[in-house]
Amino acid sequence: MTQAPTPVPKEPIVIGEIIARMTRSEKLGQLCIVDTPPAPFPDEFVESIRTGRIGAIMNLVEPDQVNELQRIAMEESRLGIPLLVARDVIHGFKTIFPIPLAQAASWDPDLVRECTRVAAHEAASTGVNWTFAPMIDISRDPRWGRIAESFGEDVHLTGVFARATVKGLQGENPAAFDTIAACAKHFAGYGASESGRDYNTTNIPENELRNVYLPPFRDAIEANVLSLMSSFGDLDGIPATANDHLMNTILRKEWGFEGVVVSDWEAVPQLGVHGLTADDKESAEQALRAGIDIEMASMTYARYASELIDEGRISEVQLDALVANVLRMKQRLGLFDKAQTDPAQFRTPGHSKHLDLAKRAAVRSMVLLKNENGRLPLRRENNRSIAVLGPLADEPNDQLGTWVFDGDPSLSVTPLQALRARLGEACEIRHARGLNTTRHRAQDGFAEAVDAAKSSDVALVFLGEEAILSGEAHCRADIGLPGNQAEFLRAVHETGTPVVLVLMTGRPLTLGDVIDYADAILLAWHPGTMAGPAIVDLLFGNENPSGKLPVTFPRAVGQIPLYYAHKITGRPPTPETVVRMEDVEKGLPQHAVGNTSFHLDVDPSPLFPFGYGLSYAQFEFKDPVLDTVEISTGDSLSISVTVTNTSDRYAGEEVVQLYVRDMVGSLTRPVRELKGFQRVHLDPGASARVTFRLTTDELAFYTRRKTIETEPGRFRVWVGADSTAQMGAEFILLP
Ligand code: BGC
Repeated sequence: MTQAPTPVPKEPIVIGEIIARMTRSEKLGQLCIVDTPPAPFPDEFVESIRTGRIGAIMNLVEPDQVNELQRIAMEESRLGIPLLVARDVIHGFKTIFPIPLAQAASWDPDLVRECTRVAAHEAASTGVNWTFAPMIDISRDPRWGRIAESFGEDVHLTGVFARATVKGLQGENPAAFDTIAACAKHFAGYGASESGRDYNTTNIPENELRNVYLPPFRDAIEANVLSLMSSFGDLDGIPATANDHLMNTILRKEWGFEGVVVSDWEAVPQLGVHGLTADDKESAEQALRAGIDIEMASMTYARYASELIDEGRISEVQLDALVANVLRMKQRLGLFDKAQTDPAQFRTPGHSKHLDLAKRAAVRSMVLLKNENGRLPLRRENNRSIAVLGPLADEPNDQLGTWVFDGDPSLSVTPLQALRARLGEACEIRHARGLNTTRHRAQDGFAEAVDAAKSSDVALVFLGEEAILSGEAHCRADIGLPGNQAEFLRAVHETGTPVVLVLMTGRPLTLGDVIDYADAILLAWHPGTMAGPAIVDLLFGNENPSGKLPVTFPRAVGQIPLYYAHKITGRPPTPETVVRMEDVEKGLPQHAVGNTSFHLDVDPSPLFPFGYGLSYAQFEFKDPVLDTVEISTGDSLSISVTVTNTSDRYAGEEVVQLYVRDMVGSLTRPVRELKGFQRVHLDPGASARVTFRLTTDELAFYTRRKTIETEPGRFRVWVGADSTAQMGAEFILLP
């Protein structure tokens, strides 16, 4: 591999000058992205590029073909404008990293930034110069299949990863040879689809839109993201793709965004399906007016924009503004100078550097949910025979998760392969799937698996969801373990052999009915290419789990949405007031204990709270100190705490989390909000003083006065290991 220097632009491109020379059809060419037809390319397609009627293509990853189309665009078209070449590179290209939800569980933005650097490097080798990532939709409904693509439920955490991924994909210089443009999506509120059903309506009041759904997009823009994608969703009666308030007032005017906004796939004509427009022409008009620069997959702009201009419904000035955004993006990407790719400049897929990183990311994103009696880590001397069970122990594809168009399963190392490689002859491994797939209902494979468990020192059971159960349009109404997996786990548990459950999943699952069947539970998510080595290192204690949940695990589907940063309500539940179904059955008078906010049939708390995750070490928090108890707007205060690793044998990392509550607001405020976190490494017995600095800007929110500001008053802070942390103090923000 030879490192190519970043190209020096030959001569500055003056966008206004190019636009002045463009015909209307050439301008409209810049405003569409088309799915590339299979090679050999139809003449009409190539001719469209040659005549400037197509300015962007997607889903082509053959370098020679990309180079040839770029050559035609640059050498044979009248104005020599390069193509945008887009591909969904969501969590890796050939080397697959953990799904984004798992990446967020690492609480390690530097590591995630490195992963996206590598993803960009691998993708750029094919000539791809634009990806539709990161997805930074706040996701509070685990039924929604796309929660797998998100960074979870929290505004702050999602914002941190929005910045990290944009910087990773685009690098310091988006014009470098191995960086690609990022696209923050889906603007905005897509994750709030009612009942977690994809593409469904959203109901998001302005207060929540501004305080919850929009901030990560601000973060992405501050990190210089080159593009945004509009959401499929209907936002307060106006689908995002036609939403003038969202796109023009907020995005362009308030935030000054100068990048590209691309529609989602066929979302422009779908404005008609929503019932917002009467026909495709009106859909094109509304999307153009909202400032959607590029229409994805459909061609309503190409068909109708010219008529709309002739009829005076869209102005030439409006058209030119959209074209300028697209050309500016091409310029920022350095495409006028680097449209051609040279695969020889790149590291090859499967390069050890990429695989090592994929393993490190998988290790750090896994969350230890349960570890009764210190069952984990396993010691080799006590585990001479191991039953490796379940439908996900040896599935090179499923461990990759959703959205892996280019992921190479031949690079995958499965848990079974890794166990065999690591333990060798010294350990007898008995493998039985038990169930063919995670959805399988038949019990004919149980007996073999149960026998394997009976005759082994430990059973490692790999259950969860195969890759196709999460992702776009893959939503579930019931989020328990699918198929007959719960029964299967029970059967293994009943052998009396200790059970370690390794959960591979794209979303939180309700585990209430199976949690007692496992002595230990390691949440591996869909960990990607290096699932196997990462899991084995964690199970055998070569690594210590340090991931933390970026999303709440509910006990029951009926609790959804269940997230830690909820409002308190006027009648919060307390242990004294919550009535259980059993109490009702016993005839206890419900009104005697008070009417508060709870379900009769489920404990109001989550199964596992946001921020939760165990370690083989134990950490103790003490002596929280605020350096002041009164601050004024513009000031900051520091909060410090001593964290001690009380374990006598395991070094480990704790993610120390800072939460704040604004006790009284002009609008009701969440019961607590994450404001910061730090990963600290501690050797056995070691302590560290961890200090957070909190500025009053971080206390600002979109208030009743419809501006973002801080409001004086009482605040409470907590520092701890998860969102239920109890150790805290109060301070006052003076008027
Ligand atoms: C998804 C987008 C994706 C696009 C292109 C759509 O269906 O919603 O997130 O980027 O397809 O593949």
